[in-house]
Amino acid sequence: MATPQDKPIALVTGGARGIGRAIVERLCADGFAVGILDREAEIAAALVAELTAQGHSLFFEPVDLADHAGLAALAERLPVAQVLVNNAGIFENKPFFDLAASDFGRMMDVNVTALFLLSQAVARRMERGGRIVNIASRTFLGARNHAHYVASKAAVVGLTRAMAMELLPRGIAVNAVAPGGVATEMVAKQSEEARAALLAQQPTGALAAPEDIANAVAFLASPRTNFIYGQVLLVDGGKSLGGGMGG
Ligand SMILES: NC(=O)c1ccc[n+]([C@@H]2O[C@H](COP(=O)([O-])OP(=O)(O)OC[C@H]3O[C@@H](n4cnc5c(N)ncnc54)[C@H](O)[C@@H]3O)[C@@H](O)[C@H]2O)c1
Repeated sequence: MATPQDKPIALVTGGARGIGRAIVERLCADGFAVGILDREAEIAAALVAELTAQGHSLFFEPVDLADHAGLAALAERLPVAQVLVNNAGIFENKPFFDLAASDFGRMMDVNVTALFLLSQAVARRMERGGRIVNIASRTFLGARNHAHYVASKAAVVGLTRAMAMELLPRGIAVNAVAPGGVATEMVAKQSEEARAALLAQQPTGALAAPEDIANAVAFLASPRTNFIYGQVLLVDGGKSLGGGMGG
């Protein structure tokens, strides 16, 4: 695929919309050629056209991250990247007693296994070092009514720390950003009750903007950022502070 040789390449999963889109825009502004990996072909193509018209360098690869064979085939074709942002994720509200093994499987396939497989394939070819930033969630600390999502994001944190240790000798820094509630379609799709509860828990009284998360990602993705490995940066408007139960 055609990518400019003079710009470092950053790959962003789920870059078509929401937090991923803000990350794409920010990394373009920071001088990266950005590859968007997403299943939303139409939205991604429009974003690529919009940002290309502004002078940025981008490409789009359609992929369903739940299709691990397809993901492996795509990984073979990708150019060598300096940065990988594993942002794509799925969410579902479902009480603990309603969860089935298939709910867990779907969640883990996209949020964890795809993240692992793509990181492995991309990192293997980062011969001159690089940065991997995983988007976890503040819910890795625990949350009601989506145990499968919580478990998947706790796994992302565990993977981040394990990958950081094994990839550090190769000059690859792996870190995570854990957002609290962010104003994206993922939240907009939830019931009014769930959205009101989310807002009520925010010390700031508002959800984060996708750009707030993108700024933290850009920091961890920057070649200027050094000596930080396996960390989880909470960008949650202070939601995780204090002792719980309102304390
Ligand atoms: N929005 C929040 O409040 C919030 C909070 C904490 C963490 N997060 C995490 O941030 C990340 C981005 O969330 P968002 O709010 O922007 O979500 P979103 O639903 O608005 O966007 C997700 C993007 O990922 C893509 N995607 C989803 N499943 C895919 C698949 N199987 N294959 C390819 N692409 C796929 C979608 O097409 C979309 O472009 C997720 O990992 C999410 O868990 C979000």
